[in-house]
Amino acid sequence: MKEIIDLIKNAKCLTAFTGAGISVESGIPPFRGAGGLWEKYDPKYIEIEFFYSHPKESWAEMKKIFFNSMGVAKPNTAHKTLAKLEEMGFLKGIITQNIDNLHQKAGNKKVLEYHGTIDTLVCTKCSKKYKTKDTDLTPDLPSCSCGGILKPDFVFYGEGINPQVYQESLALALKTDVMFVVGTSGEVMPACSLPMAAKQQNGAVIIEINTLPSAYTASLSDYYFEQKAGDFFGEIAKRIG
Ligand code: APR
Repeated sequence: MKEIIDLIKNAKCLTAFTGAGISVESGIPPFRGAGGLWEKYDPKYIEIEFFYSHPKESWAEMKKIFFNSMGVAKPNTAHKTLAKLEEMGFLKGIITQNIDNLHQKAGNKKVLEYHGTIDTLVCTKCSKKYKTKDTDLTPDLPSCSCGGILKPDFVFYGEGINPQVYQESLALALKTDVMFVVGTSGEVMPACSLPMAAKQQNGAVIIEINTLPSAYTASLSDYYFEQKAGDFFGEIAKRIG
């Protein structure tokens, strides 16, 4: 752990790449593995073609998967420690695959939401945006004042990544010399290529924290801590002073 503290303190550009696993201790299930959402729900409901052809069915499932528990989850020790590392000037930014807004709630300012967010809805007709918490989701088809159907502002399967977020995330990864890779199976492109880009371009030191080996563990990670994100970052918080 002393090596990790030294890496944090001496990094020129320390970043974090996070996935669903960092929010499991906040009560949000992961997508894959034990208790994963894709064991319980069919991911087809968040495929963009399905959404446009069966919006009512898609909305009914999305409410169960994402929205019914929305607003309940709180940042955990891992989120809070990453916020502290940014506040102390060590962490330069987070690229997250998560849509739960917990990094921002923990206090991080530089957060790139690679897969968008559950916090806003966008009109499929006029592109007007709405805060989810201020929108009545009881109708079968939440709609815009223009009559268009509202879509959650996260990236559906078959949708592209927001070009600006894509570019900013890649630029940050290419500047990174030390990267935490936290709670991700590393299976979903193009997000999962970012730690590889950091390593290949900049020789970044990859510090992986996961409760199980991932697609990165044997091939990319320089350090692998097989433990819960909250436990690992709780140790970091104690030592970083
Ligand atoms: N601490 C650390 N890691 C954990 C914890 C924990 N407490 N609990 C689970 N994990 C790990 C699991 O071992 C797994 O490797 O978190 C990872 C979660 O993997 P996924 O569910 O595949 O989540 P993620 O990698 O973020 O998925 C990427 O897939 O469905 C899409 O758009 C969705 O952003 C998501 C993308």
